[in-house]
Amino acid sequence: MVNVLVVGSGGREHAMGWKLAQSDKVDKIYFAPGNGGTPNNVDISSDDIEGLAKFAKENNCVTVVGPEVPLSMGIVDEFTKKGLLIFGPTKNAAQLESSKIWAKNFMKRNGILTARFEVFDDPKKAIEFAKSVDYPLVVKADGLAAGKGVIVCSNSFETIDAINKMLVEKNFGNAGSRIILEERIDGIEASFIAISDGNVAYPMATSQDHKRIYDDDKGPNTGGMGTYSPTPVIDNSTAKEIQKNVIEKTIHSMKKEGIVFKGFLYAGIMLKDGKPYVLEFNARMGDPECQPIMMRMDSDLFDYIKASIDGTLSSLPLILWKKQSAVCVVLASNGYPESYPKNEEILGLDVITPNSQVFHSGTRQENGKVLTSGGRVLGVTASGDTLEDAIKNAYVRVDTITWPSKYCRTDIGKKGLVLYK
Ligand code: AMP
Ligand code: GLY
Repeated sequence: MVNVLVVGSGGREHAMGWKLAQSDKVDKIYFAPGNGGTPNNVDISSDDIEGLAKFAKENNCVTVVGPEVPLSMGIVDEFTKKGLLIFGPTKNAAQLESSKIWAKNFMKRNGILTARFEVFDDPKKAIEFAKSVDYPLVVKADGLAAGKGVIVCSNSFETIDAINKMLVEKNFGNAGSRIILEERIDGIEASFIAISDGNVAYPMATSQDHKRIYDDDKGPNTGGMGTYSPTPVIDNSTAKEIQKNVIEKTIHSMKKEGIVFKGFLYAGIMLKDGKPYVLEFNARMGDPECQPIMMRMDSDLFDYIKASIDGTLSSLPLILWKKQSAVCVVLASNGYPESYPKNEEILGLDVITPNSQVFHSGTRQENGKVLTSGGRVLGVTASGDTLEDAIKNAYVRVDTITWPSKYCRTDIGKKGLVLYK
């Protein structure tokens, strides 16, 4: 039996820890820094690589990294140098997420289908380009911006405004000092995540995120307001195509370029005319995609994490999934993704309803109370024999939980129901 250190404080980390706790190979699970719902929290921030390494060594831990920031800082490289076991991509491999320009050029030179694009650091040239094209554009900051560095535009006024925000007003700091202008692809979006050991990649279950803050996909983009799994958007033949032409092509092309990609590889896909365009790569699990995926995973997550670290994934069978559907409804604080109140007491967490599980993200504990501490607060996750049942079970649990500025979308999963019919 081994101990595990889960790095991060989101619902993704709570869900992975919850799943790892079911493994008979795992003894104690620590969370750094964790949140108000995770047990065994260690007060070390997720970007304090030295502090985390010291803790992992002293406590004999295999480390599992949730968020992108420590990965892009090179936590895996540092731990590996010290002889510590850690799951995730190296700094070089994580460039697939930490530099959108690097990722776009990588896709272009390796023939991975993605929207056409140009790179700019000069606002005048960017605006000139925006005025010269007759198709709508998306403006993207090169670097990490917590899911907020992408502005989807409808006309050239919006595009010019977005260019100015990034290159002139520097709203995204250094992350926006170089930008991408890419063609807007109008299709259906879904998430395809795989686990890799650098040689082979095994698919996780498919899912669909709900990125916009309001019902019917209105309002600004967020980190994700809810997900369900599996999604009918990705049928079997599309899944095979994405697995071959996106996931395996990426892992093999990286290897050819001298980069071993270990960890979760997340492809944000836009399906248009039956073709899967890659909108973005993440070098980690999605949040909240992780929550329903963990609920549906039948195999032992630790086996796959260990095989990814050891480079022995091909010795394991494909991952098994429960036939049931699962849904995660994110409960946020009103005002997110802009400013929102904090430190409100959450009530009703002790009410248990069938087939549901509450994963915490922006919460903390104080004097026995659970208080809000972030924009996305809880991920209420439930399973059911059908997607309809899973949605019902999730919203039954949602209704038992209250705090003054609780907000959630009321239509999570509905897109899937329409498609199933
Ligand atoms: P990204 O962080 O690159 O995935 O972008 C965030 C969101 O912006 C995506 O999930 C899409 O909803 C949207 N988006 C990004 N790129 C495009 C594109 N080329 N066409 C249409 N929508 C896009
Ligand atoms: N839910 C989208 C992400 O994790 O980036």
